[in-house]
Amino acid sequence: MTGARAGEALRLGVAGLGTVGAGLLALIERQHELRIPGRLEVSAVSARSRSRGRGVDISGFRWHDDPVELAEAEDVDVVVELIGGSDGPARRTVEAALRAGKPVVTANKALLAEHGVEIAALAEARGVHLLFEAAVGGAIPIVRSLRDSLSGVIAARVSGILNGTCNYILSEMLRTGAAYAEVLSEAQRLGYAERDPYLDVSGMDAAHKVLILASIAFGARPDLPQVSVEGVDRIEAMDISLASRFDYRIKLVAEAFRDASGVTCRVAPALVRIDHPLAQIGGPLNAVIVEGEPVGRLTFTGPGAGAGPTAAAVMGDLARLFDGPATAPFGAPARTLAPLLSRARVSQERSAFFIGARLSDRPGVLAALSEALAEAGVSIDKLIQDSAGDTGAAPVAILTHLCPRAAVERALVRVSELAITADVPRLIRIEARA
Ligand SMILES: NC(=O)c1ccc[n+]([C@@H]2O[C@H](COP(=O)([O-])OP(=O)(O)OC[C@H]3O[C@@H](n4cnc5c(N)ncnc54)[C@H](OP(=O)(O)O)[C@@H]3O)[C@@H](O)[C@H]2O)c1
Repeated sequence: MTGARAGEALRLGVAGLGTVGAGLLALIERQHELRIPGRLEVSAVSARSRSRGRGVDISGFRWHDDPVELAEAEDVDVVVELIGGSDGPARRTVEAALRAGKPVVTANKALLAEHGVEIAALAEARGVHLLFEAAVGGAIPIVRSLRDSLSGVIAARVSGILNGTCNYILSEMLRTGAAYAEVLSEAQRLGYAERDPYLDVSGMDAAHKVLILASIAFGARPDLPQVSVEGVDRIEAMDISLASRFDYRIKLVAEAFRDASGVTCRVAPALVRIDHPLAQIGGPLNAVIVEGEPVGRLTFTGPGAGAGPTAAAVMGDLARLFDGPATAPFGAPARTLAPLLSRARVSQERSAFFIGARLSDRPGVLAALSEALAEAGVSIDKLIQDSAGDTGAAPVAILTHLCPRAAVERALVRVSELAITADVPRLIRIEARA
């Protein structure tokens, strides 16, 4: 079922009228300017507060307090879920729509990351579309590109910058030299960060998104507890500025890769050289790099969030509903998706690493640090030590040669036993050269 009845408008129920929902209604008003193969008509809307100003006129649409009722309404052909959250009203609305045999378009990455298998299975069983281009990368057309246009690519790795808030924070810390907490509160003031920034800064939002990409690129089953997740909240301005003196940027990199054992997913800060494509992605932008045979590398960049960009992605999915029968939401049928490898595998990696710390202002501490690394079999590639000034602790940054993560972690345990740093050292992987 396509959801569109020949020659007639597709009747939408829009659940959630916040940033994205209001952006979508504004774009629907301009549909005559778009290349949509048919007409869209809003039958009904739902949100929490009926009286809240939304910058768009909703007086012509039927109101539902309960979005499940909206999903089940007879004059709703397609449900657009823009409430958010992995459970609660969003999940109930999506499930009610699919059970009623109605296509669903959603931007809800949390829901897909946590319950994607069940929901995709439900859509497949009913033979209806479940489309979610807006869930990853905002306006960047990565979901359907990976699923459809790139189905001829044997993907080896999908990586990128998938959280604009973190990228904005890291870019601003580099630009201004200000501390993380200060930049975060400025980002909240400017609307680049939520009042509760946990999902963004913890790396969890990027984890939701990379899981969706992994499921499509590799046929991996979304399984959030198996993603190794680290956010940006421990990064110091000092780390960013010392990394930049080595010609690196610190970015929150989300990645899913396949090797002989299976598929691994992780989100963590990484150093990328200034000539790497991800180093060029500043402010709230997102980027996705797909590597595979026989194409090599494809890079997608663009605005990863915001009312307009996200609504445009939702609109692209709505246009797809005019275009023939549904296919499996993740490309491969939900029941065939394979388990992800354990997140513990990340600790078995070999990489070059950055270590940032403040050394206690005592004689011999730098030698003790070098010795702890040497004892663990970690060799130093480059080192910068700055003056302690009047802070009593000297910033130090080390780039290691390739080594097992376990070895450098062992060295840092020794450093902690020796109490030679005034803070907890930051250990950051260095991304391979572009
Ligand atoms: N914002 C972005 O740039 C962006 C980008 C990509 C994806 N997304 C995803 O898009 C979705 C929506 O995000 P958003 O930023 O637009 O969120 P938002 O501004 O917080 O809007 C959420 C909407 O859901 C409504 N809502 C909450 N509980 C409800 C309930 N029980 N019944 C009916 N409506 C309810 C709210 O109603 P009230 O307005 O009355 O409170 C609000 O209109 C989320 O899944 C998000 O992850 C957002």
